[in-house]
Amino acid sequence: MILPIIAYGDPVLKTKAREIPRDYPNLGEFIQNMFETMYQANGVGLAAPQVGRSLRLFVVDASPFDDEDPKLKDLKKVFINPVIVEKWGEEWLFNEGCLSFPDLREDIYRPSNIRIKYHDENFQLQEEEYDGISARIIQHEYDHVEGIVMVDRISPLKRRLIRNKLLNITKGKVHADYPMKFPLKKK
Ligand code: NI
Repeated sequence: MILPIIAYGDPVLKTKAREIPRDYPNLGEFIQNMFETMYQANGVGLAAPQVGRSLRLFVVDASPFDDEDPKLKDLKKVFINPVIVEKWGEEWLFNEGCLSFPDLREDIYRPSNIRIKYHDENFQLQEEEYDGISARIIQHEYDHVEGIVMVDRISPLKRRLIRNKLLNITKGKVHADYPMKFPLKKK
């Protein structure tokens, strides 16, 4: 089932999400819906708060980037209750997009390397290291479960310059090819 994606301006995107218990009802179905929703929107990552559920879960599929790095083909995963335990390496700039911000892209600095602990879909604990684009995507999605969105990572000056653009996103005066919910859209 395709879920509507919540646009910037909704408090759920600014809320630190809660941990998912092992017996969370219909978790498998929710994960399936997350992937389906991400694919139909042509995204490479999607976090649960972006579909209105304040839970520590995100999905990624980096295969659209595999021409840049062949190992990205295998990065199709769900991260449950993730914790980034370490970040290191030089901060580098990448032009990021986000399904909650249609028509907006921003250059964001992030460290090159991370180590992350999480539970997989079978609630097995995993610990892995990532670099490059995969570390980039994972850090972006991890921010979502922490209640941080990409415009929180740009300078206050830059944020002021795009204030109207952001307001238009919140009001739904923006084009998206996928179902969305806009907090200030007039019915
Ligand atoms: Ni995002």
